[in-house]
Amino acid sequence: MDKYCFIGYGSMAKMLIDGFLKTGALKAEELVVSTRTKSKLMELENKWPGIHTEINNGEAVKGCKYVFLCVKPLDIKDVLAEIKPLLRDDTHLISIAACVTIKDLESEFSGRITKIIPTFISEVEEGITLVCHNSRFESDSRNNIEELLGAISSVKNIKEENFEIAADLTSCAVGFIAAIFQEFIEAGIRQSTLTREEAEGMVRSTLYGTAKLLQAKDISFNETISRVATQGGITEEGVKVLQKGLPFVFDTVLEKTLEKHDKVKTIVRNQFNREP
Ligand SMILES: NC(=O)c1ccc[n+]([C@@H]2O[C@H](COP(=O)([O-])OP(=O)(O)OC[C@H]3O[C@@H](n4cnc5c(N)ncnc54)[C@H](OP(=O)(O)O)[C@@H]3O)[C@@H](O)[C@H]2O)c1
Repeated sequence: MDKYCFIGYGSMAKMLIDGFLKTGALKAEELVVSTRTKSKLMELENKWPGIHTEINNGEAVKGCKYVFLCVKPLDIKDVLAEIKPLLRDDTHLISIAACVTIKDLESEFSGRITKIIPTFISEVEEGITLVCHNSRFESDSRNNIEELLGAISSVKNIKEENFEIAADLTSCAVGFIAAIFQEFIEAGIRQSTLTREEAEGMVRSTLYGTAKLLQAKDISFNETISRVATQGGITEEGVKVLQKGLPFVFDTVLEKTLEKHDKVKTIVRNQFNREP
């Protein structure tokens, strides 16, 4: 039986572990999880009987073929230093950390590495997990991890150079969409006597229906706009405002997130003592 180790049990690791177990893609006995806080491990053991937990990362990776690194980018180097002597030639390292490149990881481990960016909406088995493998694979072993991720999401292989923007469009986007519609709700409340609950309910239902329509009917965003914003109508007035203001907003969103990525990447690269 191949074993799967998760180092770090935060928001994303929890989503992945719950998803793999809920869908039956993995069994509790196949998992070993380590994190810094003992109480979180006890909670996990109660939730998924049979799961093995460890407070020590080195102990956790022993005997595991797949090792998921689920800590924050700036913690990756320390975790790798701790587990490096225990990784085997056939270990498959899977990093979910933004801003940590395959080159960073390869400077510490010469085996199989996959970088992934999951998304919070895979908690409901939706969304896209971005994937990029290093060059150390035969195709079938790449498929194992893609199949596993496929139990909770769609899986999209992309070039590492596109990871940041693609992560904005798939993973950060969940927060962006929530932020956009939060503002829409606030405006609705400011300009009416609707309660927050009423306004939120309306937007939530409309958002869900719009996503369902786009997906189920496979119609484009532009077609959706033209179907609703008929010429000379009321929606058209609002769409014009959005089309004027939003290109600047979204260009700035991407510029700012890329800036942040670059900053963190530089710190990580320095931690790994790598040249640019
Ligand atoms: N949040 C997202 O939507 C998202 C999406 C895609 C990718 N990511 C990536 O996912 C990674 C984790 O993000 P997150 O949101 O899950 O963060 P998080 O909730 O803060 O979880 C990080 C976890 O790492 C643990 N940890 C830190 N240092 C450790 C060490 N030395 N040994 C063992 N465990 C350690 C922490 O343990 P304690 O709790 O015990 O302190 C915590 O459980 C990040 O690298 C991020 O870039 C996040």
